[in-house]
Amino acid sequence: MRAIKTVLAVSRLACQRSVCTFFSFWIRWKYIFSGASVGSRLKVIGRCKIRGWCNNVRIGNYVDIHHNVCMIVGRKGYLQIGDRSSISYNTVLNAGVGRIIIGEKTMIAGNCYIVSNDHDIYATLSVRDCGHIIGDVYIGNNVWIGANVVVTKGVHIGDGAVIGAGSVVTKDIPPMSIAFGIPCRGVSKRVLRNE
Ligand SMILES: CC(C)(COP(=O)(O)OP(=O)(O)OC[C@H]1O[C@@H](n2cnc3c(N)ncnc32)[C@H](O)[C@@H]1OP(=O)(O)O)[C@@H](O)C(=O)NCCC(=O)NCCS
Repeated sequence: MRAIKTVLAVSRLACQRSVCTFFSFWIRWKYIFSGASVGSRLKVIGRCKIRGWCNNVRIGNYVDIHHNVCMIVGRKGYLQIGDRSSISYNTVLNAGVGRIIIGEKTMIAGNCYIVSNDHDIYATLSVRDCGHIIGDVYIGNNVWIGANVVVTKGVHIGDGAVIGAGSVVTKDIPPMSIAFGIPCRGVSKRVLRNE
C-alpha cells in the first residue's frame, strides 16, 4: 500500500513538472511573440499575465514567476527582471508609467505590490483627472523582499538588502541592510555566519 502511494505521489509530481515545463515553454513564446524580451528557462508556475505593452518588458534567464503574478506595463512604462530572480504568488509589478528594474538573484515573496508611479493628488481636481507622478524603482541584486510588502515610487533598494514581511518601503534602503516596518527602515546589517 505504501509503495503504491509513493509511486502515485512520484508520478503525480513528474506529471506536474512536465505540465509546468510545457506551460512555461508555451508562455515564454507567447510573451516573445507579444514583443517581450524573454531569456531562456523561464519557469511559470500557474497563471500570470502581462497587461499592456509587452515590448517594454525584459525578462532575464532562469526567472521563476508564480501563480497570479500581474505585470502592468504601459506605453510609458518599462519592466526588467534580472537573471535567476523569482516573483511569487499574487505579486503585482505596476510599471504603468515609470520603470521598475529588478536585479539578478532577487526574490520577491507573495502578495507584494511594487509601483513606479503615484496619482497626482492636487486637491482641486479629482484624483482620477490628475496626472501621474513618476518615480523609477530600482531593486538591486540578491535582494529578498518578504511577503505583503509595498514598494512605492522612486525607491532604490540596495544590493543584498532584506525587506521584512508587511513593510511599506517609501525611502531608499542601503545595500546589505535588514529593514522592515511602516515606513520601512534599516534596523541592522546582514552579517556573515561566523561573525
Ligand atoms: C525581516 C526578517 C528577515 C528579520 O528576521 P530576523 O533578523 O531573524 O529578526 P528577528 O526575528 O530576530 O526579529 C527582531 C525584531 O524585529 C521584529 N520584526 C522582525 N520582522 C519584522 C517585520 N517584518 N515587521 C515588523 N517587525 C519585525 C521582531 O518582532 C523582533 O522584535 P523584538 O526585538 O521587539 O522582539 C523576518 O522577520 C521577515 O520578515 N521575514 C520575511 C518572511 C517572509 O515574508 N517570507 C516569505 C516567504 S519567501
